[in-house]
Amino acid sequence: MIKIGVINVSDRASKGIYEDIPGKAIVSTLKEYLTSPFETVYAVIPDEQDQIEAKLIEMAELEACCLIVTCGGTGPALRDVTPEATEAVCEKILAGFGEKMRAESLKYVPTAILSRQTAGIRGKSLIINLPGKPKAIRECLDAVFEAVPYCIDLIGGPRLETNPEIIKAFRPKQK
Ligand code: MTE
Repeated sequence: MIKIGVINVSDRASKGIYEDIPGKAIVSTLKEYLTSPFETVYAVIPDEQDQIEAKLIEMAELEACCLIVTCGGTGPALRDVTPEATEAVCEKILAGFGEKMRAESLKYVPTAILSRQTAGIRGKSLIINLPGKPKAIRECLDAVFEAVPYCIDLIGGPRLETNPEIIKAFRPKQK
């Protein structure tokens, strides 16, 4: 079974002060995109770098998630440390994801430049950061998802099939 990790990094959502809207938005967007059946591994955790790193490692190694999507903690505020945690656990950084998401997001909000969101590879997992605003989830995933299935092919993960009416996976070399 294909496993996908979703982590909402938020002090307030983890304490129950905020409803976990962005985490749920990631899951429903992935369900729209993917025709391959998958199981979600889910977590809501505070903006603590050690906890974010531990959860990313657990989802990558113990749970064997081929894709892990985080939301929140990408901005410039003191407690925003999701990109630092991502960089700390990844062997390779895929800077193009952050570049493309920021470029697309700038079409919606000028404050898109405040997000330090990135992506990277740990073992056989692709980790992607998204901002925490619920509307940012779809805007950012739409910007990069066409490249996600091929990236997962390249790192030895399962083949993800998408609904081409929603998002068309781009695979330069057909396998
Ligand atoms: N990107 C998109 N697509 N849509 C948005 O509304 N909000 C921005 C930015 N990127 C936004 C966006 C804002 S206001 C901030 S502060 C940063 O993401 C960081 O958000 P985070 O700290 O919740 O991760």
